[in-house]
Amino acid sequence: MIHAVAVAATLAGPALSWNTDVHQQIAYAADELLNPWTKQIIKQLLEPSAEGSLGRVGAWADGYRKTPEGAYTNTWHYIDPADEPPSFCNVHFNRDCTKGGCIVSALTNQTEIVKGCISRAKLGKIRNGEDYTCANAVKFLAHFTADIAQPLHVSGIAAGGNGFPVTFNGTATNLHSVWDGAIIYAKAGVTSFNNATIQPFFKNAVKRLRSDDFITSTADMLACSDPGTPHKCAMEWARDTNEWTCDYVYSQIFNGTDLATSGYAKGAGYIVEVQTAKAALRMATYFNRLVEGNYRQRDVYLETVPSWILGPAGGI
Ligand SMILES: *[C@@H]1O[C@H](CO)[C@@H](O)[C@H](O)[C@H]1NC(C)=O
Ligand SMILES: *[C@@H]1O[C@H](CO)[C@@H](O)[C@H](O)[C@H]1NC(C)=O
Ligand SMILES: *[C@@H]1O[C@H](CO)[C@@H](O)[C@H](O)[C@H]1NC(C)=O
Ligand SMILES: *[C@@H]1O[C@H](CO)[C@@H](O)[C@H](O)[C@H]1NC(C)=O
Repeated sequence: MIHAVAVAATLAGPALSWNTDVHQQIAYAADELLNPWTKQIIKQLLEPSAEGSLGRVGAWADGYRKTPEGAYTNTWHYIDPADEPPSFCNVHFNRDCTKGGCIVSALTNQTEIVKGCISRAKLGKIRNGEDYTCANAVKFLAHFTADIAQPLHVSGIAAGGNGFPVTFNGTATNLHSVWDGAIIYAKAGVTSFNNATIQPFFKNAVKRLRSDDFITSTADMLACSDPGTPHKCAMEWARDTNEWTCDYVYSQIFNGTDLATSGYAKGAGYIVEVQTAKAALRMATYFNRLVEGNYRQRDVYLETVPSWILGPAGGI
């Protein structure tokens, strides 16, 4: 792992994201779990082209981070903990969140923004997504609730695994990329997902969520889902995800083996399956509670205080 840490220091976070189609599918699954009132409010907050669907906007934030005006959101998609999987795993906000923001502070801020947006939408003051800050805040929540469930978005080693070379099905790639797409495609038996509607693999995930049929119970998945404590919940989600990096992601023998056939992808498939379902359930539940006002408003600290000066990218 020493080698991997050295790589982390030289790679300036090209961390990607669940692939576009995977993001869309997670959010399409969340769409199925929204209450009618939530759907109506989301429809008002999003531009008409979104047709009121989180699925259609679930990947928007990845395009935005690549534009000049959206570049400042680049670090919001992940948090790079200074832990050492597989020996020890942990996430600490003030140590690991960089000055430009991380997925935990971004979720916290965007939750606070969305609260105000929902109040105005309920009064009919926002109708066709004409408030860009609000439309974007919904899209950010639909994206970051998914990214925070991807183990390599909560892992500092080798810049989220981007600098960790592996072989998958005969192709040289990196560990981050494999977790973003290849593993779930293999599990679902597809090469990609259609981008227009929810696909069978995710339809089945919704069905299984409804019957509480995953290895993790839905009650556990939603142990924190209170929009009144966005920072606490984002940290809980981050820690829950980060555990997989010790438990599985980096605890296997790599040794140049092909992950598609070595058994790695098979084991990872169960993890990705539950993590994507969890993300969809949390996303939908969070929006439902926000719209229902099912939370108590508390103060949140919106400022990030990175104090680990030797942290990822020198704490920048
Ligand atoms: C789906 O992909 C097509 C082709 O790239 C694109 O034109 C369309 O806008 C995409 N739809 C969504 C909802 O992303
Ligand atoms: C969160 O909001 C605070 C206060 O507005 C701001 O200073 C900070 O940059 C924001 N961080 C993120 C990640 O949005
Ligand atoms: C590996 O690649 C072959 C040929 O492209 C493809 O048919 C197969 O589905 C792939 N297997 C996995 C697990 O991705
Ligand atoms: C890893 O590679 C080394 C050197 O090639 C080899 O001796 C060892 O058996 C390999 N271990 C596994 C588990 O494949």
